[in-house]
Amino acid sequence: MARVGKPLVKEYATDEVVVEWEPRLCIHSGNCSRLSPKVFDRDRRPWVKADEASADEIERTVAQCPSGALRTRRLKGVSVKPRQRFEICASAGGPLLVTGGVRIVDAEGNVLHEGEQAALCRCGGSSNKPFCDGTHRTNGFEG
Ligand code: FES
Repeated sequence: MARVGKPLVKEYATDEVVVEWEPRLCIHSGNCSRLSPKVFDRDRRPWVKADEASADEIERTVAQCPSGALRTRRLKGVSVKPRQRFEICASAGGPLLVTGGVRIVDAEGNVLHEGEQAALCRCGGSSNKPFCDGTHRTNGFEG
């Protein structure tokens, strides 16, 4: 199975943990900045400061990212990432939220995304299908 290009992934690291952010998957839920505002601040550059909290706190916060745009890799210590069971949830007025591991392929069998989570558009308005891009907030979708 082929993999389509290499998506842009930005990394923010301390000596304990690496925070990865894949912008094309981000639906701007705001969970990260609500849970750890010192670490995640969209109005600051860089917007992620991994040294503003413990690796455990960062892992717990990143686990609440519904799209899988934020991920962590632990360099030291034991991961506190909660194990998620496989589930697909139709969020209120928003995307299908997939947790527990997912591989998304296109019609030609190319791997578009592989990870623990994904947010898939169900409003039809995303410019980044099959991924949600947050357009459901402005196109009147009520599903
Ligand atoms: S559900 Fe979010 S853009 Fe369609």
